[in-house]
Amino acid sequence: MHKNALSSLALCVAAAAAAGTLAQGQTTTITNKIQSAGFNSTFTLSAAQIKAANLSTSAVANLEAAVRFDQSQLANGGTYEDAFYTLSGGGSSKETTTTTTTEPGKLLKVQRVTDPKSFTLPANTALSRILYTTTNLNGTVIPNSAYVLWPFQPRVFNATAADEGKATSAPVVLWSRGTAGFFGPAAPSTNRGLWYANAAPFTLALDGYAVVASDFAGLGIDKSWDGSDIPHQYLASRVSARDGLYALRAAKEAFAGLLSDEFVSFGHSQGGGVAWGVAEVLAEKESESNFADLKTGYRGSIAGSPTTDLFTGTPYLILPFVSLGLKGIFPSFDLTEWFTSLGIARLNLFREIRGGIAEAQSLFLDPTSGPVIKEDSWNQTWYVDAYSRLGNVGSRPFLGPLLVIQGTADVYIPYPVTTKTVTDTCQFLESEKISADLEYLVVNGTMHVPTLDATRPIWLKWIADRFEGRPVERSGCVTTNLESWLPLENYILTSDSYLQFAGEPEYSYETPLGI
Ligand SMILES: *[C@@H]1O[C@H](CO)[C@@H](O)[C@H](O)[C@H]1NC(C)=O
Ligand SMILES: *[C@@H]1O[C@H](CO)[C@@H](O)[C@H](O)[C@H]1NC(C)=O
Ligand SMILES: *[C@@H]1O[C@H](CO)[C@@H](O)[C@H](O)[C@H]1NC(C)=O
Ligand SMILES: *[C@@H]1O[C@H](CO)[C@@H](O)[C@H](O)[C@H]1NC(C)=O
Ligand SMILES: *[C@@H]1O[C@H](CO)[C@@H](O)[C@H](O)[C@H]1NC(C)=O
Ligand SMILES: *[C@@H]1O[C@H](CO)[C@@H](O)[C@H](O)[C@H]1NC(C)=O
Repeated sequence: MHKNALSSLALCVAAAAAAGTLAQGQTTTITNKIQSAGFNSTFTLSAAQIKAANLSTSAVANLEAAVRFDQSQLANGGTYEDAFYTLSGGGSSKETTTTTTTEPGKLLKVQRVTDPKSFTLPANTALSRILYTTTNLNGTVIPNSAYVLWPFQPRVFNATAADEGKATSAPVVLWSRGTAGFFGPAAPSTNRGLWYANAAPFTLALDGYAVVASDFAGLGIDKSWDGSDIPHQYLASRVSARDGLYALRAAKEAFAGLLSDEFVSFGHSQGGGVAWGVAEVLAEKESESNFADLKTGYRGSIAGSPTTDLFTGTPYLILPFVSLGLKGIFPSFDLTEWFTSLGIARLNLFREIRGGIAEAQSLFLDPTSGPVIKEDSWNQTWYVDAYSRLGNVGSRPFLGPLLVIQGTADVYIPYPVTTKTVTDTCQFLESEKISADLEYLVVNGTMHVPTLDATRPIWLKWIADRFEGRPVERSGCVTTNLESWLPLENYILTSDSYLQFAGEPEYSYETPLGI
């Protein structure tokens, strides 16, 4: 085609897309607008909030920018505005609701087709969401939310010539994301990019897997049927692992026949601990009765940059996060044991604004403020050790195979910490004479989330091998070292971009060719 003809065709197509229609001859005029990162929020802190938390001008600016950005990432205005998240019915007629509440793993609500307009999903994927029941640390049954991201066509394994290309069910990856936040609206199922976007869930769906992902208790639904708060029991890996397994059971009920029995568990960071937790939960004696329906289909876990020793790494962020749910676990816990009065004031504001990671950085790692943590005494309190024992994974039996992936330049999850957990776990297996496969993949020079990008072909192959029923390449406890192909200094080590929503007509010029 002649170059001019081609570009005028592209222009027509782009204009049609900008007008929100592809019908020929319709010409709605759209004015392209410059979009800010906080385009859908006008959030400001009140004078009283600023005073109570003793925020400097720069801290106020940081915090407001973070909240505006986060609010602008909420699909349909987030969990408090989206009727899907109401426990008592609500939502459109596309949703069905049941009300069984006595057992975990029960389906409460199904949204078979989630309107993708408010999300930044890759083209030709489809989204569903469910509400279902799970349990907290002490076994209380509570409601939670989850999503399923569907592939355009499922990957087919063990295909014979006769059934080539005729997949009936999609192979399942039970995905556990890294820290998204601590309150209802931080739920990945209400985040435009499902929080981890291309780092894993989009990649998996585009590779032919159905991605089943729990929001984890306290996110999505943050109040129970009786109106009581559901605190997120942050970094309690085996508790969130149950959230995931119960979500999978409920999703299989919701989408009968569409999800394969075989599944691989995969997670990163907080979710890396959870994926390891899935492997541990399925090795517990009780799993014979609790998860008998799922256990036979389990094919292994991948723990990317996992949280295994929860107060190491970045304790000044971890302490505020853990403290949010700690009183429900240890009723004697008092915030003054970990926090200064400034710290408590900032925690109150953190709760009021339902902050996430970026808000926490502005409030708890604020270079313009005095100390928020009682630096000399927090680690003398017994809660640190007690919660670590409840939450940490490692040095326990697990159902393999387990692939642990760790970058050496990770600042959130230090490489020596993961190495120690892996080493301790391997020693534990040896002393208990348990045979299990654990591969430790060490990636030289990669950082936290980018370690997933560096190893994408490796984990995709590992997952496919499990579905094909191949044995692991090397059995027992083994370490693999991975180096960059070109010199490390040639590579960009951390991404400096994010997915920007361009679904409103005035922003649609931002997407390549519009359609
Ligand atoms: C913008 O935010 C409002 C209020 O939360 C919400 O109702 C609306 O859906 C959001 N708009 C977009 C395009 O997401
Ligand atoms: C279990 O946890 C819930 C909330 O997390 C709390 O209200 C309840 O008292 C706890 N029950 C027991 C027996 O510890
Ligand atoms: C508020 O913060 C400023 C700057 O860090 C400090 O000088 C002042 O003492 C603080 N006020 C209170 C009441 O903590
Ligand atoms: C506890 O904190 C103090 C003061 O920061 C530090 O010197 C000590 O090493 C810490 N102990 C542990 C076990 O982390
Ligand atoms: C990791 O990479 C750095 C920089 O390229 C190199 O100097 C170092 O030898 C590598 N480490 C290992 C253990 O291979
Ligand atoms: C493929 O076949 C292998 C070997 O029979 C089996 O272990 C595996 O579960 C099968 N995978 C699927 C997805 O059916």
